[in-house]
Amino acid sequence: MLNFFKGIKIDSKQDNTKTLICWMCLMINKYTIMLLSERMLAALNNQVKLEAESSQVYLGIASWLETQPGLEGYTEFFYRQSEEERHHMLKLIHYINDRDGHAIITALEMPKNTFGQVIEVFQDFLDNELLVSKSINDLVELSLNEKDYLTFKFLQWYLDEQLEEEKMAKTMLEKLQLVGSDRGGIYQLDKDIVGLRTKVSESKEGE
Ligand code: FEO
Repeated sequence: MLNFFKGIKIDSKQDNTKTLICWMCLMINKYTIMLLSERMLAALNNQVKLEAESSQVYLGIASWLETQPGLEGYTEFFYRQSEEERHHMLKLIHYINDRDGHAIITALEMPKNTFGQVIEVFQDFLDNELLVSKSINDLVELSLNEKDYLTFKFLQWYLDEQLEEEKMAKTMLEKLQLVGSDRGGIYQLDKDIVGLRTKVSESKEGE
């Protein structure tokens, strides 16, 4: 930052010292606004890990579903969900690095790889999304406490995303609870789930 001011000469004859000092103050102030506080940086890095773990959780689910006969719809849904979570993680990484922080890539917990039945998968999906929503809410609160309004604005996208994902998970869980162990119902929902995601994607594009 100080290198930025090297080579700037003050012309005392023209008495522009005051102007230059004001300009330097403005630049320093701008630079300070760009920096993330230590607490904010640590919390955002924690969210990077959580999004990466979410991607792994859904990858584990997708891989198990792919080994089960006739569940192509659910399988595709979770492979795409895993990709979405990776996108959430990358968006955070770029944001942290753009704010002169350093996004840290850490080791991840091994996700669950086997499930008893399809309904268990959607319960895990909902539980994980509720966990992520809580974490995003905590981040929003921290951004306000730290007076970091750029991060506050950045997080609004994640709040909207969580609302949609929680809704999707709840809808599918309720439908599966309704059909119970009826195989016909489970296979019908396997077809419907692709439409559910398409509907959500279309409503996002229409915003
Ligand atoms: Fe990015 Fe669904 O948490």
